[in-house]
Amino acid sequence: SGKKPSGARGLRFAPVAPNTADTVTVPDGYRQNVVVRWGDPILRGAPAFDPERQTAAAQAGQFGYNNDFLALLPLRGEPHRQLLVANHEYTDEVLMFRGYDPENPTRQQVEVAWAAHGLSAVVVEEDRKTGKLTVVPRHHLNRRVTATTEFRLTGPAAGSDLLKTSADPSGRRVLGTLNNCSGGTTPWGTTLHGEENFNQYFANGSRATDKRYGIGTGATERKWERFDQRFDIAREPNEAHRFGYVVEFDPHDPSSTPRKRTALGRFKHEGATVRLTQDGRPVVYSGDDERFDYFYKFVGSKRMQKGASRAAREHNLSLLDEGTLYVARLTGDSPAAEIDGSGKLPADGEFDGRGEWIPLATATAKGAVSHVAGMTAEEVFVFTRLAGDKVGATKMDRPEDIEPSPHTGKVYVVLTNNSNRGKAGYAPADEANPRNANKHGHILELTERGNKADATRFDWSVFLVAGDPADPSTYFAGFPKEHVSPISCPDNVAFDPHGNLWISTDGNQLGSHDGLFGVAVKGDRRGELKQFLTMPTGAETCGPIVQERRVVVAVQHPGEVDGASVEQPASTWPDGPGRMPRPAVVAVWRADGSDIGA
Ligand code: FEO
Ligand code: CA
Ligand code: CA
Ligand code: CA
Repeated sequence: SGKKPSGARGLRFAPVAPNTADTVTVPDGYRQNVVVRWGDPILRGAPAFDPERQTAAAQAGQFGYNNDFLALLPLRGEPHRQLLVANHEYTDEVLMFRGYDPENPTRQQVEVAWAAHGLSAVVVEEDRKTGKLTVVPRHHLNRRVTATTEFRLTGPAAGSDLLKTSADPSGRRVLGTLNNCSGGTTPWGTTLHGEENFNQYFANGSRATDKRYGIGTGATERKWERFDQRFDIAREPNEAHRFGYVVEFDPHDPSSTPRKRTALGRFKHEGATVRLTQDGRPVVYSGDDERFDYFYKFVGSKRMQKGASRAAREHNLSLLDEGTLYVARLTGDSPAAEIDGSGKLPADGEFDGRGEWIPLATATAKGAVSHVAGMTAEEVFVFTRLAGDKVGATKMDRPEDIEPSPHTGKVYVVLTNNSNRGKAGYAPADEANPRNANKHGHILELTERGNKADATRFDWSVFLVAGDPADPSTYFAGFPKEHVSPISCPDNVAFDPHGNLWISTDGNQLGSHDGLFGVAVKGDRRGELKQFLTMPTGAETCGPIVQERRVVVAVQHPGEVDGASVEQPASTWPDGPGRMPRPAVVAVWRADGSDIGA
């Protein structure tokens, strides 16, 4: 090879070409290892993975299924080790169990699936010479949280009648977390996890609110309601009101009870990312991943305490219970007639405009106040989508990750796609969602007024319109398109130590597998997007983390292809021919030991 690849600092690698190989393809000169995969034992006493003899007890001590969000936290007193926290979003029974009959799941299969959901915390050890990471099994911080782990509901809706069930008349204790998609890490050392498509676990929805949240009127696909009546709304109407929150988890305390923070609202939380105001209060951004739904911001009223004392840690665990929840309304600055849905730029040369954060409700120690006419505060926090509807929030093209740059304060709002935009009966393109039949998605760049995290106004512009660069509707912050990689369906994002934005994709519509991309957001290479890796067959790229010496990704749902099963696999990654596909975490590093993209 010889010639050093050009690019912004941190992005100097030869881009990986689009492909459909059943493997993780990385740039020339890079190496990889599988860090941990579905079924790997992580807790003391957990057995080795045996796909033909799965039990709930085994799974509860093993790494769960469908890893999505990842956090890597430093470990005090243990150099060369980090604490990996992973979401296990959902189960794919037909790829997990040989001979699975979707009409008649067994109790055993259902209980394995409960144990395969949730979170994992697992300590990983860094190789001294490379970027390789390996699991430290049986470490005292290793932990599994599942669909049956006890959680506490906290904040303004906790204890409300809307959250009471026959198993929990207090409305404050709930079993499990479901469909944890993306998340974030807090400056006080905890992790946040968005409960996303929780609707799919609940049967027999009947109320208008069920419908607004996508809860179906019949049986569920997994049929859990046959095994636990809490999943049947006809028998336990409020259980579904106890899912759809942001979970806060303290991975440093293995005995801690995870919390669901009702002050951040209830919707299909893609994730939750945190920054601090100048005076140290938390601000959390979160998208509602649904076509024509909204994105939100929570501004806390209490300041973070620094340090690791017990008192500071306890105080900080109350930060997300008091504050104001806002929803975003965006207004374009170009005449509506110039936004024709084709992606053609308006006369002022940019899809851009202004926005406001509309307050929905405020939670205080003394109680909560609604800012939405006709809704109580409790209703706002439990039926947050309806509050957004009432105040005229802007309907977006499926808000996924929303991530503030720690380098500039600008906030990136990832909109994965919306094929219904502009169709008969649906909203047409607007300046913030400028393409009809938006198959490939786009990314907004949002600047809080005065770069203050708690501002109630902001400016925004479209940073990237995804697709094949040969497609005239695409846009890469004005960078020449002949020099960028094709990208489709951006989903999760992360920043590297240089401030570049890394984007993972879910559902590539260009004929290639999903992948991970890096793009400069400032300087004269702003918009130069380069593909860093591609996924195995059927997999979505999740949880990217970019450290100086390694990139870590979650390979979610390898082999998830229509018609595939254990008997007819579409992928055999990562274990190879004859083995079933297994969702896994992968680390990537430079063979010569130098920094990523240096
Ligand atoms: Fe689970 Fe919105 O992706
Ligand atoms: Ca404009
Ligand atoms: Ca996602
Ligand atoms: Ca997605």
